[in-house]
Amino acid sequence: MLILSVESTCDETAVAVTENGRRVLADQIFSQADLHAVYGGVVPEIASRSHVEVISYLADRALAEAGVGKADLDAVAVAYAPGLIGAVLVGVNFAKSAALALGIPLIPVHHIRGHIAANYIAFPELEPPFLCLAISGGNTLLADVRDYTDMRILGQTRDDAAGECFDKSARVLGLPYPGGAPIDALAREGRDDAYLLPHPALEGNPYDMSFSGLKTAVINIAHHAEQTGEALDRPGLAASLCRAVSESLVPRTMAAAAELGYKKIAVAGGVAANSRIRADFRAAAEKAGCALYIPPLKLCGDNAAMIGCQGYYEYLAGHTASSDLNAYANMEIEKPFSAGRSK
Ligand code: KG4
Repeated sequence: MLILSVESTCDETAVAVTENGRRVLADQIFSQADLHAVYGGVVPEIASRSHVEVISYLADRALAEAGVGKADLDAVAVAYAPGLIGAVLVGVNFAKSAALALGIPLIPVHHIRGHIAANYIAFPELEPPFLCLAISGGNTLLADVRDYTDMRILGQTRDDAAGECFDKSARVLGLPYPGGAPIDALAREGRDDAYLLPHPALEGNPYDMSFSGLKTAVINIAHHAEQTGEALDRPGLAASLCRAVSESLVPRTMAAAAELGYKKIAVAGGVAANSRIRADFRAAAEKAGCALYIPPLKLCGDNAAMIGCQGYYEYLAGHTASSDLNAYANMEIEKPFSAGRSK
């Protein structure tokens, strides 16, 4: 089954062609990061406009890269939620038009389900059930992936996403947007015990997380140094931040795996590129005798191949939409798409 897939939920426009879910024939990505860098964050209107400008061109390039014609396609999959509403609408409208014009099914895909599916592309042997920590710029959640389209949230951030914490902290460290990768690089030159940062313990669900206090602590340390003229140990602050984020994520994930009896742990989303988090997960998984799945860097960030892969499994489960499909800024990961939802 050949699927043309579309991703436009934030600041990457991407179009891919996948075969039977896991085989990627083409994966075209245009990152808008440079357009937003000057503002220190994503400007929604600029994101939407840029998606409109490049999406058709990327689709043509994806088909050429895959060596398939439009008539060969069997379905169109699209990330329809969650994301910046204007940005998601561009991808949804493009996908609806393509499916309608070609007379083939339209498959709505939850963006975070797509991130989880990036692991199926990277690891052909991986099959549910497993535990997955999804960490990106807009979402941070721990999911019990019972089956390809059956998942339960075990815990999630109560405020900022882990990626947002990196991006906002990067600003006060004088690093460009998006800040996660530059903080990661700077952290390699610093000591992770240079600053004592908060590790929030939350009441209630032990698998819930919080990152806004950590972000505020980093901002306060940087502002205090600026106001008092004290030298700021930038590499030390970056390393301490990476450690604090990792210590929020890794032990919770391992505790959930132990409680549920899972020996397979996957990590997904842009923040999964972080070298401290990857190293800590590797050590913890080895200690616990768990198999660890973290996609290569290219598949951690937003891409359309992951949408095509998850789209294949959504299609097999009967989750298709008609041309009244809408885009959504927020959407639970747990509920499968139902046609009534788009009304
Ligand atoms: O998954 P993604 O590409 O987009 C969303 O769906 O949000 O994630 C982007 C996030 C940004 O916050 C970026 O700063 C973060 O991933 N990121 C990193 C690293 N590379 C990207 N965070 C920490 N360390 C990295 N190496």
